[in-house]
Amino acid sequence: ASPWLVVPAAGQGRRMGADRPKQYLTLDARPVMAHTLTRLHAAFPGARLCLCLDPDDAWFDPDWVLFADWRRVAGGAERADSVANALGAIAHEARDDDLVLVHDVARPCVAVEDLRRLMRVLADDAVGGLLAATVADTMKRDDGGGRVARTEPRAGLWHALTPQGFRYGLLNQALRQAMASGVTVTDEASAVEALGHAPRLVPGRRDNLKITHPEDLALAGMILAAQAS
Ligand code: C5P
Repeated sequence: ASPWLVVPAAGQGRRMGADRPKQYLTLDARPVMAHTLTRLHAAFPGARLCLCLDPDDAWFDPDWVLFADWRRVAGGAERADSVANALGAIAHEARDDDLVLVHDVARPCVAVEDLRRLMRVLADDAVGGLLAATVADTMKRDDGGGRVARTEPRAGLWHALTPQGFRYGLLNQALRQAMASGVTVTDEASAVEALGHAPRLVPGRRDNLKITHPEDLALAGMILAAQAS
């Protein structure tokens, strides 16, 4: 079965310091968002898409959406609000055990084979899970004053990537609970973890970069070129 896709794309991307949100910057002649949506469509052509956009967004072009079944949803103040809005918008259509994959619009380099593998793994997983990559660098915790407080053991640490996929009912409950508790959750998995579940870590390619800082755009361009060769 095809999953639901939620693509939060309502962020301002302030860390980029650009003249427009990062999902609209040009990467290899196309906007970042167009790349991301094309990859998702290549993996899941029959999926139903919810695209979370800022209600005042002036940059979006529906021509980038290749999905036959899609809807535009208003983004919220935080990423979790945007995703919760999307889940609310499909409440009358989605069933509790439908799989929902949430993917950052700012990750245009996600590999189609990673998307398909994640879907295969999650298809028979009761909880759900996420693409993730082990940490390569030694990790330092700061003391708040620019010095090292301690070194965190690197073994067993992972980068949480996206997509992150969970059953509709569980994800909806997890996000609503997280929002009600006032804790900021920066991904779906942490909201599900807070309910006492252990999401599955699905090893993914480490070039599934999230465009965040100015230098990331050039890096993403190199990754796309290398993947195409
Ligand atoms: O800022 P960051 O890169 O962590 O945002 C992750 C994703 O969440 C991005 O795709 C961004 O567009 C989205 N987002 C959103 N609504 C917000 C904040 C972020 O859809 N209020």
